[in-house]
Amino acid sequence: MLARAGRYALPAVSETRRLELERALLEHRALFLRRFGGDGPVRLWFSPGRVNLMGAHLDYNGGPVMPTAIDRGTFLALRPRSDGRIQLASTLELGELELEAGDLPLQPARRWWDYPVGVLRELSAHSGRLGRPVAGFDLLFGGNLPVGAGLSSSASICVGTALALSETWGLCLPRLELVQVALAAERGFVGVQCGIMDPYAVGLARAGSLLWLDCKDGSNAWMPLDPELHTIAVADTLVRRELAQSAFNERVRQCAQAFAELAPHQPGATCLRDIRLETLEARRGELDPLLARRAEHVLREVARTFAARDALLRGDLAGFGAQMTRAHASLRTLFDVSVPELDTLVDAAVGCEGVLGARLTGAGFGGCVVVLLRRGAEPELLARVQNAFGARFGRAPTVEFFGGDEGPREFRP
Ligand code: GLA
Repeated sequence: MLARAGRYALPAVSETRRLELERALLEHRALFLRRFGGDGPVRLWFSPGRVNLMGAHLDYNGGPVMPTAIDRGTFLALRPRSDGRIQLASTLELGELELEAGDLPLQPARRWWDYPVGVLRELSAHSGRLGRPVAGFDLLFGGNLPVGAGLSSSASICVGTALALSETWGLCLPRLELVQVALAAERGFVGVQCGIMDPYAVGLARAGSLLWLDCKDGSNAWMPLDPELHTIAVADTLVRRELAQSAFNERVRQCAQAFAELAPHQPGATCLRDIRLETLEARRGELDPLLARRAEHVLREVARTFAARDALLRGDLAGFGAQMTRAHASLRTLFDVSVPELDTLVDAAVGCEGVLGARLTGAGFGGCVVVLLRRGAEPELLARVQNAFGARFGRAPTVEFFGGDEGPREFRP
């Protein structure tokens, strides 16, 4: 029987996973009590991470993306205080922050708490508009999302914090506003020029669906991906590149430059996504070859993402998967964001019976590969990627299977 109404749509996997998550959240509450002591009810929230299946490096170019949430993410345990003090701690990061609710920092500290503090600043503006002073609380963060793997731990923290505080303070902000708060916190306070995909992917996620998000105008829709028939695997190379952030920023700059050079030849274009492939081809000789390759990836990926959406809508999952695998080839050869560990995983996965497509997810330069496969092909995929990866790199990648999860929610035991 398909448990459509449940949080987890795969009955066999889901029940175990739901129990695992429940146990982990209850442990998190125990850690909260050990850290902060005291009494009074402690509320718990879970905020997922995300994987993106199509639309690689398109969000900051105004293109479409197709992410889904996963049931690994951020845990938040929160208890209001009556003295107006705020204490933030984490089971995953060193250092804690104590402050007065009425005296929020004006500058980031370059520490992990910049993300929740950014959210606090944004929400205090909402709170002020509603005539409610910001109230104090103790908040312990934790979770089971690998940091730096490209699964969007920062959006998971920001949207989760926005939801927990909105509910605690009775602001009742709709999901889309929580997404905007998270985005403003990351861009405005933390100072990361991130694209819009991650907070939308986390905040608007629905079980058994991919989110279709057009990053030019923010329009979005849910596309069904039947978890009874298909599974999403995430294989982590465990490669973490120090230079990943600067290499990502460089891609953002190169795309902006390619757009600046092509825009005069494309009337009405407001972002790189609006440039037509014919325009790029006609002007290729005048462009720096590197910029031309970056632009070519973006323009072809836009076309691939629309083709993938059409395939999904007509139930052609093999067609959808084929676009994923093409996307990886382009990320490797035109966008230069792959590494041998990612290529090895993709090659091993696509050679496996029942695998529909595979590509790197997130920014690249290490991190994870996402694989779309038919239910039942999991053991074969696991064996293949572990053998191929082990033979080449002498160690094992971690591989996990997901059915697509909901957005952030309160956990009530
Ligand atoms: C990172 C960014 C996203 C997106 C992807 C590439 O994960 O956080 O906004 O740009 O890279 O698709």
